[in-house]
Amino acid sequence: MKYAEIISRMTLEEKASLTSGKDFWQSMDIGRLGIGSMFLADGPHGIRKQAAAADHLGLNPSIPATCFPTAATVANSWNEALGEEIGEFLGKEAVAQKVNVLLGPGVNMKRNPLCGRNFEYFSEDPYLAGKIAAGYIRGIQAQGISACVKHFCVNNQEERRMAIDTVVDERTLREIYLTAFEIAVKEGRTKSIMSSYNRLNGSYTNENIHIMQDILRGEWGFNGVVVTDWGGSNDRVAGLIAGNELEMPTTAGETNEEIIEAVKSGRLKEEVLDQCVDRLLELTFTTEEVYKKSQKEFSKEKHHKMAQRVAEESIVMLKNEENILPIKKGTKLAVIGDFAEKPRYQGAGSSIVNPTILHNALDCFKEAEFNSIGYEPGFERYGKKNKKKIEKACELAKKADVILLYIGLDEATEAEGLDRQNMKIPENQVELLNALYEVNQNIVVVLSCGSAVEMPWIKKVKGLLHGYLGGQAGSRAMLRVLAGDVNPSGKLAETYPVHYEDTSSFNNFPGKEVSVEYRESIYIGYRYYDTANIEVLFPFGYGLSYTTFEYLDIKVSEDKVTFKIKNSGSVAGAEVAQLYVGCSSNEIFRPKKELKGFAKVFINPGETKTVTIAFDDKTFRYFNVKTNKWEIEQSDYKIMIGASSSDIRLIDSVFIEGTDAPNPYNKELLPSYYSSKVSKVNVEEFEKLLGHKVPASKWDKTKPLGYNDTIAQCQYAKGWFARFAFYMISFAYWFLRKIGKRMTANVIMMSIYHMPFRGIARMTGGVANMPMVDGILMIANGHFFKGLSHLLRERNKLVKKNKSNEAIAEVVKES
Ligand code: BGC
Repeated sequence: MKYAEIISRMTLEEKASLTSGKDFWQSMDIGRLGIGSMFLADGPHGIRKQAAAADHLGLNPSIPATCFPTAATVANSWNEALGEEIGEFLGKEAVAQKVNVLLGPGVNMKRNPLCGRNFEYFSEDPYLAGKIAAGYIRGIQAQGISACVKHFCVNNQEERRMAIDTVVDERTLREIYLTAFEIAVKEGRTKSIMSSYNRLNGSYTNENIHIMQDILRGEWGFNGVVVTDWGGSNDRVAGLIAGNELEMPTTAGETNEEIIEAVKSGRLKEEVLDQCVDRLLELTFTTEEVYKKSQKEFSKEKHHKMAQRVAEESIVMLKNEENILPIKKGTKLAVIGDFAEKPRYQGAGSSIVNPTILHNALDCFKEAEFNSIGYEPGFERYGKKNKKKIEKACELAKKADVILLYIGLDEATEAEGLDRQNMKIPENQVELLNALYEVNQNIVVVLSCGSAVEMPWIKKVKGLLHGYLGGQAGSRAMLRVLAGDVNPSGKLAETYPVHYEDTSSFNNFPGKEVSVEYRESIYIGYRYYDTANIEVLFPFGYGLSYTTFEYLDIKVSEDKVTFKIKNSGSVAGAEVAQLYVGCSSNEIFRPKKELKGFAKVFINPGETKTVTIAFDDKTFRYFNVKTNKWEIEQSDYKIMIGASSSDIRLIDSVFIEGTDAPNPYNKELLPSYYSSKVSKVNVEEFEKLLGHKVPASKWDKTKPLGYNDTIAQCQYAKGWFARFAFYMISFAYWFLRKIGKRMTANVIMMSIYHMPFRGIARMTGGVANMPMVDGILMIANGHFFKGLSHLLRERNKLVKKNKSNEAIAEVVKES
């Protein structure tokens, strides 16, 4: 242990105190030993440091900071170096705000397009997500502080996120859901990781020895700190044993007592606690070094420019019929759509940033040389129908050469804490588009949303630019692409299916009661559509440019592929070339192709550049559940270079010697997996893949409610009071939506409805404790008076205890 000497001078109480928060955002300090607090702040696309009232829901404003495009946007840049630069900028701002740990990036996979937090995540592909995240981490940590990669792991739905049990087979876990974290640890060298709220195959991730010890520490060699997600701690001692060093936020000393008790009873070895403290001290001391030097203010303007550059590199052009884009000089433009005036530039929830500057498209139009003939909002932002607005928009559209139509998803639809209900953009926006099409068919759509949407209306538009959530300078970036000052070079980091029903997890998303079963296994995103030959709207890796690129001269050796790209058009531009690998053997089921490398190259017109993509440890590997190791199958491998996952321009092959591992599967028993038709796998076949029975997925309504059951489960509680409370909460949610207060309604879902009972103690910073939760549970389980008197008794005890603690603290302070 590096800090054995300081640790030897600590009391057991002091050691325990370091393992949970001092308040909502800070870790505990011990003044007499010179140990300071660390400040942890969200993340991930800007700093959300709350100076006053703290919350993890994005409710109260934070100190202004640059709002960069969100991860879903940046992933479209396919530029690892850009990720590193963003990290540097984020790190600088974090340092300017005295933050020690920046809570991001988030690298969860987009298993399903409806996950409410997809806008905060990079991709459906672990390699792409991992590489860009590693860039962020290196950039952030180069400033002297720590990144905190989240949410480890399989947190792929928001519904019941604090209770849901993710049932997934080991190979899928490794190949799909852990690889991005592995890259973040090994290549990004992240100093901290946030464990997720959910369970994995039965145990809470922060208590799960398999992922926390065997994989994270054992195989990947991680020796940093694991932080719980806010209020995610369940059995604190079990969490500590697994190596989840820091619990956030504070529980006002309640879990410290549990830890002390566990050491005394022998459940927790003091050496284990010491090691956790040692790692916490390392994080604390190394991330406070930077504050010993004098700090420079960051330049708001410079950072704003950077946010613009990132947005420019990440915009994806999805359609350009008749070369309607870039907009020709002098074209009479009708600017239509509420998002032109009030940009949709970030998501809702804990990631929300209070921007330093914010442009909208209308302001930017004034600066640009566009011939705008007017603006009309055209629709109500939150979905309400408004004929008048449509009519006015049509009037304007009639007079224009081209309509620039700003549409997308509103901030209440894409939010942390709840999943989307469907993949559509609001009906009132589609109605507007249909009406405009009747009067003017030159429509260019500027789309703003952080995740994939269905586009049954696509035939009615000639141009389509997708800006995702472009951050505070996104509107100007978009205008520069529209004007042709910037040649779009973004490519989709996720597939756009034609219909939501086409997704492989359609029948298993979200888990609504006890568990969610990942029956589709490794087949998510393009791995599924491509292998199962399902037609898509836009494939993974797709994006157009104002120029054209030719791919030539592929050469493959054992350790790399080399090829050439020529800019065969008339303007300069950047191309994202993608390396996909496909195994020719049919012994182990696999996707037809998987992304194993990429390169973004800037090329002038007429110029040809040579590109080399090196193979690495991930190029040919698969995870073998029999040997419990990564193995290589002996086979010919197709080496494919594509402009997207479905536009393969060059193919070659290479023979790779294998590791001679036994085949863990029996083809006859896993027909769906070998045929990739995984949208309706039956439970028996899924169990064959898992190697064990699936746990009961439905609530056992005969059982009394416990700590880990959620408030939503009060709907079947024995106690009338709990059922009444449930109906009141549901009514409040319905009512708030009805009167248009969708954001407030969301908060109810996120912070009450889906919260487990234990959260009442773990999330309230000492206002309630677990004995009080016992009283609440008694009430919920039908023992109203007994429960109420227990609750009041425990409340009184807590109040007295808090008062005497305050008095002791006062005396200590004075002495
Ligand atoms: C989110 C985390 C976030 C934390 C602190 C949680 O609800 O899941 O991503 O970092 O709150 O705000």
